[in-house]
Amino acid sequence: MLTVAVLISGTGSNLRALLDAAADPEFPARIVVVGADREAEGFAHAEEYGIPTFMVPWAMFASREEWGAELAAQLRVWRPDLVVLSGLMRLLPATLVDERSPRIINTHPAYLPEFPGAHGVRDALAAGVEQTGASVIIVDNGVDSGPILAQERVPVLAGDDEHALHERIKPVERRLLIDVVRRVASGELDLAQIASRAAGAEASAP
Ligand code: GRF
Repeated sequence: MLTVAVLISGTGSNLRALLDAAADPEFPARIVVVGADREAEGFAHAEEYGIPTFMVPWAMFASREEWGAELAAQLRVWRPDLVVLSGLMRLLPATLVDERSPRIINTHPAYLPEFPGAHGVRDALAAGVEQTGASVIIVDNGVDSGPILAQERVPVLAGDDEHALHERIKPVERRLLIDVVRRVASGELDLAQIASRAAGAEASAP
């Protein structure tokens, strides 16, 4: 059984979907802890399922490195096989990424490498594209630049604002995330192999 830690900042609707999926005894992964960088609304979902939570408040640390060191220490307590960033609105320091990679994944509300960063939905709208999407990636030390594990297109509709478009993307993100976690747990997706292939391709790029 794959054990998973989920890190959030906000409402945790993707977390909720993963918790619901993992409640099925046939699902090959279990969420062991939910962490956040603030008092996140999404903690309520974890509490409802009786899953422990921890908070490492961003505001209490002098630097990203110090915050990340405490986050890494908390994660070590729970020894998860996989860390899922599900709406954690902070860049992780390299020390934490390096400790966990490649068993650390992120969901993103755009079709990467299009529109990386904190405003993927807003940026897609501003660019006037006809379609954007959702992606699940391995976290590396860039901004949403890690190997892509799953992605799907979502059309931009006339009259979409950021909220409406994001709400249409999120169900796709949830489905992709659940599927990726299931495939990692079943061994169908080998994160180490995918990461090392991506590193090899990068090294041999002109
Ligand atoms: C998701 O779209 C995630 O990719 C983005 O923030 C959203 C989180 O939503 N970074 P929620 O907290 O799961 O509802």
